[in-house]
Amino acid sequence: AQPVIVAIDGPSGTGKSSTSKAVAAQLGLSYLDTGAQYRAITWWMVNNGIDIEDPTAIAAVAGKPEIISGTDPAHPTITVDGTDVAGPIRSQEVTSKVSAVSAVPEVRTRITELQRSLAASVEKGIVVEGRDIGTTVLPDADLKIFLTASPEARAARRNGELKGADVHATREALIKRDAADSSRKTSPLAKADDAVEVDTTELTLAQVIECVVTLVEEKR
Ligand code: C5P
Repeated sequence: AQPVIVAIDGPSGTGKSSTSKAVAAQLGLSYLDTGAQYRAITWWMVNNGIDIEDPTAIAAVAGKPEIISGTDPAHPTITVDGTDVAGPIRSQEVTSKVSAVSAVPEVRTRITELQRSLAASVEKGIVVEGRDIGTTVLPDADLKIFLTASPEARAARRNGELKGADVHATREALIKRDAADSSRKTSPLAKADDAVEVDTTELTLAQVIECVVTLVEEKR
């Protein structure tokens, strides 16, 4: 059988990562977290003193860091020039800077190439989660899902992950990042015309996973 390619897009806090990992694990597919790649290149920029406000400076070094993603949904890994950055890419500093870095076209071209070559190398198939997978990275994906949820539900979920954070501040930060991601010129966060939209506000994670697994099985 041909490998099955599943694209899962949507704003932050809709359950993309949890859903994508679980669906990949259940179906024996590979998994790629493209947000982690944008976070990794942002981490490298911060670490190397690149001015995040200067797109020309970012573009000039976009090809420098070597970013390697592991695609096992049970143990997703990410390294930059051989350093494990799975922890540091989740810092508040990286989170607040990633939208600016990922809006730079040279960064997107570079990361998109990595994503396409990974997707082309898998045997059974892959679940790829992000913002522009269905629209730009893998427009021929077998199944495209667009996850949504109310801003309140998204902030509450993110707060559950961040323990002790202020819900109001989390909500504001999420809204700001989604607005930046949706309004950038180069491949913004958007639902592909042929994507299936799933509103997860009133659903449990288990229900969302079941819904996506069923949709994938219909395509196989
Ligand atoms: O999914 P996550 O919240 O980790 O993504 C971090 C950031 O990476 C997003 O806010 C967005 O700026 C960027 N991103 C992107 N395109 C993708 C995935 C993530 O621009 N396909």
